[in-house]
Amino acid sequence: MILYGCPINLSLLSRYAFFCACVIALVTLPFVPFAWRWPLTVLAGVLVLVGLNDLVQRRHAVRRNYPILGNIRYLVESIRPEIRQYLLEGDSEPLPFSRAQRALVYARAKNQDAAKPFGTLIDVYQSGYEFIGHSMRPTALADSEGFRVKVGGPQCLQPYSASLLNISAMSFGSLGANAIRALNAGAKLGRFAHDTGEGSISPYHREAGGDLIWELASGYFGCRNNDGSFNAQLFREQARNPQVKMIEIKLSQGAKPGHGGILPRHKITAEIAATRGISMDEDCVSPACHSTFSTPIELMQFIARLRDLSGGKPVGFKFCLGHPWELMGIAKAILETGIMPDFIVVDGAEGGTGAAPVEFSDHMGAPLRQGVLFVHNTLVGLNLRDKIRVGASGKLVSAFDIASILAIGADWANSARGFMFAIGCIQARACHTNRCPTGVTTQDPLRQRALVVKDKAQRVYNFHRNTLHALAELLAAAGIEHPAQLRPKHLVRRVTNTEIRLFSQIHYFLKPGELLAERIEGEFYARMWNMSSAESFDGPGSTTDLPKRVSAADGLGAIN
Ligand SMILES: Cc1cc2nc3c(=O)[nH]c(=O)nc-3n(C[C@H](O)[C@H](O)[C@H](O)COP(=O)(O)O)c2cc1C
Repeated sequence: MILYGCPINLSLLSRYAFFCACVIALVTLPFVPFAWRWPLTVLAGVLVLVGLNDLVQRRHAVRRNYPILGNIRYLVESIRPEIRQYLLEGDSEPLPFSRAQRALVYARAKNQDAAKPFGTLIDVYQSGYEFIGHSMRPTALADSEGFRVKVGGPQCLQPYSASLLNISAMSFGSLGANAIRALNAGAKLGRFAHDTGEGSISPYHREAGGDLIWELASGYFGCRNNDGSFNAQLFREQARNPQVKMIEIKLSQGAKPGHGGILPRHKITAEIAATRGISMDEDCVSPACHSTFSTPIELMQFIARLRDLSGGKPVGFKFCLGHPWELMGIAKAILETGIMPDFIVVDGAEGGTGAAPVEFSDHMGAPLRQGVLFVHNTLVGLNLRDKIRVGASGKLVSAFDIASILAIGADWANSARGFMFAIGCIQARACHTNRCPTGVTTQDPLRQRALVVKDKAQRVYNFHRNTLHALAELLAAAGIEHPAQLRPKHLVRRVTNTEIRLFSQIHYFLKPGELLAERIEGEFYARMWNMSSAESFDGPGSTTDLPKRVSAADGLGAIN
């Protein structure tokens, strides 16, 4: 379009129209005689300033092209998760926990009735649907207070009687002080264990005196020298504290296996630095692997050393299954050294984290059930299943979740995000920003004030108690007296539209002592056994058995 000889770009006009209207309003409004002129002039002035800022900034093209209006895009984008969660999300849509799962935890934590009227909302004919078979002769309801398991093998001097549901590892650092206080006070009320996470034992873990599982990751927080190496003396002092019931060496975590961890500098307070024994001036990094051991045999020796330093407390490790032959390597190391862990906690790829690269969360590590099954089978194959306990974590929030993992081989369940929901988490997924809206995963004291410790401790207690009570009800209906009697035959899965199978038919189970026999019948297990070594996590001949595709001299350019 040509106006008085000047080419006018219509698109430009429309993009700047709102900004121009605000400028015109700013210069004309003061001269129009009506009551609202001054407030409206101020508003126009503010909008003009926003528009000018949009025009000069260089980071956002949309704001440069659409001054003032472009901000609406960023505003809507920033509240998209909340709008989706409150208005658009379906009841069974997992994000990662569905509204139905969260509602169940909230109800149990508040001691409200979690019963549902009118029947199930689940399509029981969809493949993957699971249920527990009930018995024609239900048993009497067991007291869920008695749902405990003794952890501590023959080399342990102070076995621990663990609840079947405990608080999974979450550090002081990723969680704020009030969250830690509430979790630990809840654990004390309900006599269950609270895993410290890799950030060591803070003063807030100590206030209520709830049982602690002290987790030791590659950063050795709370027992490290300045260079990050393990300090045996510091470990001994803390581990012998009576509140510490077990020691857990973290090898990996399902949400980011093999990645190590990072606590960003902006979340490190003076207290966190003192608790961990780190500097406040840089990001706190946990390396991907431990410096105290590099082979399965060395891991066993480290376990024996920690058990000794702790005065004989149960020592185990937490991991997410990656290469199966590595666990077989540990099995061989147990046979070779005679040293065994007291427990193994299996974390699933579906597990949570404060922060992780998306490829790691989405595509790294084995899901929980495969991990538990493999560990259980390996221990059965070694004839060690009665000496080494197996814990499990990964989206276990309901009694059914717990029953199904116990049925395929776990001895107890841990929950991280379940207990986060119990203390008010709304799944805003802002754990890494320090701006958690419910004060759970933030170090900001003002935001943390929102979390009232006494109230939330009671909810932690309620959630634990009501969930185990629901488990007792499930078991009674199935004719089972104690969770330890749950077997794969009790669980059923729909595999096609027309077919259902017992877990005992779907999954492969090794015979007792099978790995010690001349011939291992399970083909996959035999192969993994042959690939493993007690001397190396890589297994024997790991690099030499590959066809050579690139020589050192070729450099990266030669890979094809
Ligand atoms: C905020 C947050 C912090 C975590 N920190 C740790 C940690 O320090 N050490 C660890 O082993 N796992 C950590 N985890 C993983 C949990 O302990 C657990 O293994 C995983 O989330 C699976 O359990 P869930 O599905 O019940 O959350 C963390 C998880 C969350 C959500």
